[in-house]
Parts: sequence; C-alpha cells; structure tokens
Amino acid sequence: MTLNLTFDSPESIPSEALAVVIYEGDRQEALLDRLDSLTGGLIGDLRRSGEASGKAFETALVHRPQGLAAPRLLLVGAGKPENFDAANLRKAAGTALRRLKEKGVHEFVFVASGPLPAPARVAAAAEGLVAADFEPDSYKTDKKDDKRIDRVAIAATREAGVEAALDRGVIVGEAQNFARALSNEPANLLTPKDLVARAEQMARESGLEIEVLDEARMRELGMGALLGVAQGSAEPPALIVLRYRPPEPPTSAVHLGLVGKAVTFDTGGISIKPADGMEKMKYDMAGGAGMIAVMRALAKLKPAVPVSAFVPTVENMPGSRAQRPGDIVTALSGKTVEVINTDAEGRLILADAITWARRQGATHLVDAATLTGAIVVALGYYNVGVFTNDQPFCDRLLASARDSGEKMWPMPLDDDYKEQLKSIIADLPNVGPRWGGAITAAMFLKEFAETTPWVHLDIAGTAWLEDARPYMPKGPTGVGVRTLIDLAMKMGAS
Ligand code: BES
Ligand code: ZN
Ligand code: ZN
Repeated sequence: MTLNLTFDSPESIPSEALAVVIYEGDRQEALLDRLDSLTGGLIGDLRRSGEASGKAFETALVHRPQGLAAPRLLLVGAGKPENFDAANLRKAAGTALRRLKEKGVHEFVFVASGPLPAPARVAAAAEGLVAADFEPDSYKTDKKDDKRIDRVAIAATREAGVEAALDRGVIVGEAQNFARALSNEPANLLTPKDLVARAEQMARESGLEIEVLDEARMRELGMGALLGVAQGSAEPPALIVLRYRPPEPPTSAVHLGLVGKAVTFDTGGISIKPADGMEKMKYDMAGGAGMIAVMRALAKLKPAVPVSAFVPTVENMPGSRAQRPGDIVTALSGKTVEVINTDAEGRLILADAITWARRQGATHLVDAATLTGAIVVALGYYNVGVFTNDQPFCDRLLASARDSGEKMWPMPLDDDYKEQLKSIIADLPNVGPRWGGAITAAMFLKEFAETTPWVHLDIAGTAWLEDARPYMPKGPTGVGVRTLIDLAMKMGAS
C-alpha cells in the first residue's frame, strides 16, 4: 500500500471512495455541511435515520452519492467532537481502511479532518492507515488477493511540515507492523536463532550496529539468571544488542536503553502451564520484537540521542536439563535468586539484560515485557501497566503514550511490596505471594535497575488482541512501539 497527500477539495477527487469523519450531535465540520448540500441532503438523511449517528467507529457506506467525484461515500463515526483527538483520528482512518478493504475497494481518499494542526492530523491518519492494513494471515495459502488496498490519498490542508509528517507516520506504522509480524510467528519458525537472524537483517538494511552475545559469552560474563531459563531448551539463547548513534555528537550524556523480553515460547518450564491457551505463548517475545521495531524506526527518524536495544531471547522449555523449582542462580549483578517458579522466567532474563544495559552506559531504561497474567487481571486488555523508580522520567513516557494513542496506566511500586520478595536461602525469590503479582514482578526488576531511572511496561494484556476492533484485526498489536519512538524523538529534542 502506498500513501500520498492531496490538497484538492475532497468532493472533486476521482477515486473509488471518499471517506470522511462524522461526529455525534449537531456540531460538524464545515466540510460535512458542504458535502451535505452537494449530495442533496444525503448526510442529513443518514443522520436523521440513525444510520450515521457519528458513534465512535460506526460506519455508513453509500453508493452513487450525487455531486461527488467518487462513486462511494463512507462516513466514519468518531464520537463526540469535544473528545476528538489524534487517537480517534488514527482509529477512524484505520476503520475506514478496514471497512473499504472488506468491500473490495482498492484505492480511496481519507479526509484527515479535526481540530489539530495539519501535520499532526496527517501523521495520525498515516499511522492509523498503515497499522490497520496489517493482516495476521501470513501462512494462509488461499489468500484472497482481491481484498487489498493499493493506495490511499490523505486529504489535508497545505501547511508546513505535512510531507515530513506523512513520512514519519508511515515509518511509525510500519515499525508497529514489523513488531506485529514478528510476534505473530509461530515458535517453530521463530526460535531465538531466527530472531537473531531477523534482527541482523534489519540492522543491515537500516545501517544499525548489532552485537549478539552467544551462550559462551554470556557464561563468561556470568549471566546466570538468563542462562538458567535457557538450559531446558535445545535452542541456544542470545542477547541481541542494537545500537543507534545520532549523526551529530550528542550534547548531553543521555543514553536511552530499551530492554525487551523475547521468550520465543513459554511453556512455563518444569512449572509447566496448562494446555488451554498455551499456543498464545508464542507472543511472549512481543516486548523484544517491539524494541527491535523501535530501533528500525529510529534508524530512519534519527533522534539526537543515542539509543540501544537489549533483547534477551530464550525458549522456556521443560527439557531434561531444565532448571528446577528451588534452584539458585547468580545473576550478572551478583545477586542470587531462588527460582521458586520456572514460569516466572521473564524477570530472570530481563534482570541480566537490565544489568548489561546499565554496564553498557544506558542512563535511562525502559523495558517492555509480556510479564504477568496478573496485569491482565488488574487492567484487562486495554491498558499497559506502567511501573517506575523515577516519576519525572515516567511522566515523560506517559506523555508520549498519550500523544501516540497507546493507553498506559501507572501502577504502584513502593517499598512495602518488597516485603513480599523474601527468600530464606538467597537474596531474592523469583516470585512473591499470589496477590499483586504484576507489582512483585516489577519489584524484582527494580532490584536490577538499581539507581538508573527506569520504566517497566507490562504488556501481557495488550500485546495480543483477542477480538477484532473496527480498526485492527485480532492478533498481535505492536503495543509500545509508537510510544517509545515518540519518547526517543522527544528525548533527542530536549
Ligand atoms: N509469559 C507469562 C505471562 C503472560 C501471561 C503473558 C498471559 C501473556 C499472557 C509469564 O512468563 C508468566 O508465566 N508469568 C506467571 C508468573 C507467575 C508464575 C508468578 C504468571 O503470570 O502466571
Ligand atoms: Zn512464564
Ligand atoms: Zn513468559
């Protein structure tokens, strides 16, 4: 699919369909009044009949509207005008694409309207269109090629920066889809070795530096927490390190480190998971995939701050060499950990990756991980759980999340919870008691972030969509990618 900009008046652009946003209530944009009178009152009729109420992401498709160059008009509901923002525009654009694709349309015009400056509208529309075009059906052999969008023209006003905004929106949307494609891969076709190969290929194409720490090197360094998880699998583990350096030497000492959990399959190990739903554990590498995808985008967007990604990748299997509950491992930081539950493996591999990121000079850390079922209990499928040891840094990330339309919710992480992480034999157990499981998991990671400003994103509930939304199919979401690209760009700008 290619995207381009158009500054012509939408009613006069020849294309298969014209898609416009419509709000709930009487307050509409001037464009809608114009389209209403051009079409002989069609929009008013649709509104009065309730077919186009403006309710968020409801659509109405009309054929042969009079007075328009396009043979189809799609009205996309966007909710109340006072609530309309870039996030709604992103979803409205995505809804338009998915609806028209399903109808066999190949090419259309989307009007990026709304109260925001034109570059913000264009970027949001482009992101929404590119992300909505993702399909999780890569292994279907009878794909219907007629359901395909080839081209979308985004109609906007001619303002400075709109072209750059279009490029940025496409880069961000494609990064999100890159993460989704990786997360969607089954674990037999994406082992740790395969993930390394994908990261190497991406680095080569993007001009990023890559270093891969293999098992021998990790043993030499003393990454006992990570290696303990890997030892039950025939697939060797790796720690992928991707480095981006800005074109101009940076003026500040800030170095952003992105750490992403990449368990290519999580059986639970000896503390094995129930069979029901276990197939989903192929996406236990979504955090790592997201970080690799962020780096891909940053290589193109070139923020003025150095950024490195650290992606520990393992397969958590109950093989004959697997670690047992009760085993004690020594993490890279020197801390000893009693492995109470081998299914709490994410925190073990992240612990060593976080320590390595600090030793490699990261001054600010963000990790993303499908870490706990408990975060799904706490926040459901809509919000990422956010934990931190540094509120000002976290506030910057939350601002980026808002601007990127990714919902994230702050969770507590005060020292009271540390009481729940006590082992009588080692420095730390890898799990606490049942309640507050997402918080104890974060508390475990905090012990390894030490004094470095750090934010932890638990994406277990948000990295996979269980039910399709109008603007997104079921399957991997690529959550976190847009926010972290935005954060890196803003850290470079300040
Ligand atoms: N990968 C899982 C967490 C997960 C759950 C991801 C649901 C996506 C959807 C993680 O490694 C895990 O198994 N966590 C355990 C921790 C427990 C043993 C303390 C959990 O959440 O049950
Ligand atoms: Zn697990
Ligand atoms: Zn896991």
